[in-house]
Amino acid sequence: MTIQVKNINKRFGDFVALNNISLDFPQGELTALLGPSGCGKTTLLRCIAGLEHPDSGQVLLDGQDASDRHVRERQVGFVFQHYALFKHMTVFENVAFGLRVKKRSERPSEEQIRRKVKDLLELVQLDWLADRYPPQLSGGQRQRIALARALAVEPRVLLLDEPFGALDAKVRKELRRWLRRLHDELHVTSIFVTHDQEEALEVADQVVLMNKGNVEQIGAPDEVYNHPASPFVYGFLGNVNMFHGRVQDGVLASGEASFAVPGQPEAAGKGTAYVRPHELDVDRYTPGAEGIVVKLRRAHAIGPLAQLDLERGDNAELIEAVIPNERFSSLDLKEGETLVVRPKRLRVFVDEGASI
Ligand SMILES: Nc1ncnc2c1ncn2[C@@H]1O[C@H](COP(=O)(O)OP(=O)(O)O)[C@@H](O)[C@H]1O
Ligand SMILES: [Mg+2]
Repeated sequence: MTIQVKNINKRFGDFVALNNISLDFPQGELTALLGPSGCGKTTLLRCIAGLEHPDSGQVLLDGQDASDRHVRERQVGFVFQHYALFKHMTVFENVAFGLRVKKRSERPSEEQIRRKVKDLLELVQLDWLADRYPPQLSGGQRQRIALARALAVEPRVLLLDEPFGALDAKVRKELRRWLRRLHDELHVTSIFVTHDQEEALEVADQVVLMNKGNVEQIGAPDEVYNHPASPFVYGFLGNVNMFHGRVQDGVLASGEASFAVPGQPEAAGKGTAYVRPHELDVDRYTPGAEGIVVKLRRAHAIGPLAQLDLERGDNAELIEAVIPNERFSSLDLKEGETLVVRPKRLRVFVDEGASI
C-alpha cells in the first residue's frame, strides 16, 4: 500500500505540532521519520493510523482519501516503544490475539490460527518461546513478539514508533539489523519513528528529517548524510564544524583564513561553512601554508581513526578533525603543536536575514 500525506496541519491549542506536511511513502519501502523529541513524529504517525485527526489536509492510502476510514479499516499494524503485550497471556496467545478478536465471519479456524502463529514465531525466530509469558522475556524478545503480533492480521502498513527506544545500545543494534532483514523478506510499507540518527541511516530506504513540525529534508540515507539541505540537518546528522565569516565571489573569509566555496557562486553575505570532522585535511604548519592555523589540544587515537581537538589560532574556537590513525602516526604529531587544517569539502549557508 502507498501512503501519501497532503498538507497536514495539526495544532494543540496554540502550539503547531505539524505545519503543512506533505510526504509520499512508497509501496514496500521502509521510511524513517527522524527528528528531535517533540518535533511531531508521533503525531504524524497517529494521523496516518487514524488515531489522531489533522485540523486540515489529507491522508491517502493507495490514493484513496482515508479521512472517513476508521483505524480498524486502515489495516495498519503498530509497534510502540513500550511493549504492549498482555502479561497474563502466553506469547502464543499474544500473537493469536488479533486473529481471535476478528468477526466470526472473518475469523480463521483454530487450526489456521495455530499454523499462522507458529509461522510468525518462526519468522521472528522465537518459536521456542511460545509457552512463556511476557515477564519471562527480555526487552528485545518482547519487541520481536510485539512485531509478530502486529503482523498476524496481515497489515498493509506497519507503523513503528521508537520500537527499540527502551532497549540498551547493543540490543538495539542487533534488532535494527534484524528488522531490516525482516523487511526485506516481507516488503510491507513501513514507517519507523526514531530520534536516533544512526538507527535511521542504517535501517531505512528513505529518511524524512523533521524539525519543529516541519519537514527539513527527504532522501536516501547517504543523500541526507552527505548533502544536508539545511544547518539543522548538518547538526542533527553527526558532528560538524562551523566556520563563520563572509562569503563573496566564491570565497569564504573566516578570521585570518579564507577558502574557496565551489558550486555556490550565488552565495553572498554573512555566512557559515559546515565541515564534518573527516572532511578536514590536517598537516603540520609551515610558514605561508594555506588554511586555518590551529593548535593540537588533544589527540584521541584508539582504533582505526584519530580524533583531534584543535584550537583555532585566530579566535580560540574548537575544531574537531578525524583522520586515519595511520596518517596520525606517520605525521608523528604531539599535543601543543601548531598545525594547519583545510576543508576538503564544505557547504556554506548564508545567514538568514544577512544583507547581500
Ligand atoms: N495530545 C496532546 N496535547 C497537547 N500537546 C501535544 C499532544 N500530543 C503531542 N503534543 C505536543 O506536540 C509536540 C509533538 O509531539 P510528538 O508528536 O509526540 O513529538 P515526537 O514524537 O517527535 O517526540 C510536542 O511538543 C508535544 O508536547
Ligand atoms: Mg514520539
